[in-house]
Amino acid sequence: MSIHNEVKKITTNTLQKMKTAGVKISMITAYDFSFAKIFDAAGIDIILVGDSASNVMAGHETTLPITLDQMIYHAASVVRGIDHCFVVVDLPFGSYQGNSKEALHSAVRIMKETGGHSIKLEGGAEVVESIKRIVDTGIPVMGHLGLTPQSIYKFGTYTVRAKEEAEAEKLKKDALLLQEAGCFAIVLEKIPATLAAEVSKSLSIPTIGIGAGGDCDGQVLVMHDMLGINTEFKPRFLRQYLNMYEQITSAVQLYIKDVKSNDFPNESEQY
Ligand code: KIV
Repeated sequence: MSIHNEVKKITTNTLQKMKTAGVKISMITAYDFSFAKIFDAAGIDIILVGDSASNVMAGHETTLPITLDQMIYHAASVVRGIDHCFVVVDLPFGSYQGNSKEALHSAVRIMKETGGHSIKLEGGAEVVESIKRIVDTGIPVMGHLGLTPQSIYKFGTYTVRAKEEAEAEKLKKDALLLQEAGCFAIVLEKIPATLAAEVSKSLSIPTIGIGAGGDCDGQVLVMHDMLGINTEFKPRFLRQYLNMYEQITSAVQLYIKDVKSNDFPNESEQY
């Protein structure tokens, strides 16, 4: 079944219909105009302007330093490159945890200044009030449970979450709370596949997994990881579709050689 033939622009309704029809949802991160244009033309369902920009674009160790203004810059660039896919923009650390008024203010800035279609924030019960307030304003919200990188200093490690029963129970409750609060979808990051399957089955809204097994309603990967631009990060859940690091290195080495040997530019490459 092709949902794309029926609807040109992907909306939260399209994503809900995909879950109901058992059509898997594809999501990838992007942070700039050019890659967003390629991913959209390739037929991706959702582009996530992730706060992973802090790592892969800015070189920070964690997602904590990126600011709301920086997220807005990345998101606005992505939106200029797309035609049909749905764009989700992360609320960065510190832009929503204070209170629901602050969260709404940050979400409104994202919507007004980027043209994105929705926002994503991390957490369960503790962010429910903010989610309700944002959703009530008419802004679609994607939740994010499991490994939530903005809390890395609380966790102390990037290992699999919710392996123990107590944490798994909390995650199941949080997923239901997020659905009741009005989230249109939830990212499940780095949790056992059996738990992700159970949560996905119990919810009427789609789940998007990253390191959460094949029974989620969709999958997301960070573009730099799946395209092999980032070679240091090789977790078990990652499937690498290209080795751009090697390909780009070879291309740039060839260019350097051509410049040094005066082979480039040749007669047809000049005026
Ligand atoms: O910021 C990000 O890229 C994310 C994904 C890992 C889901 O939140």
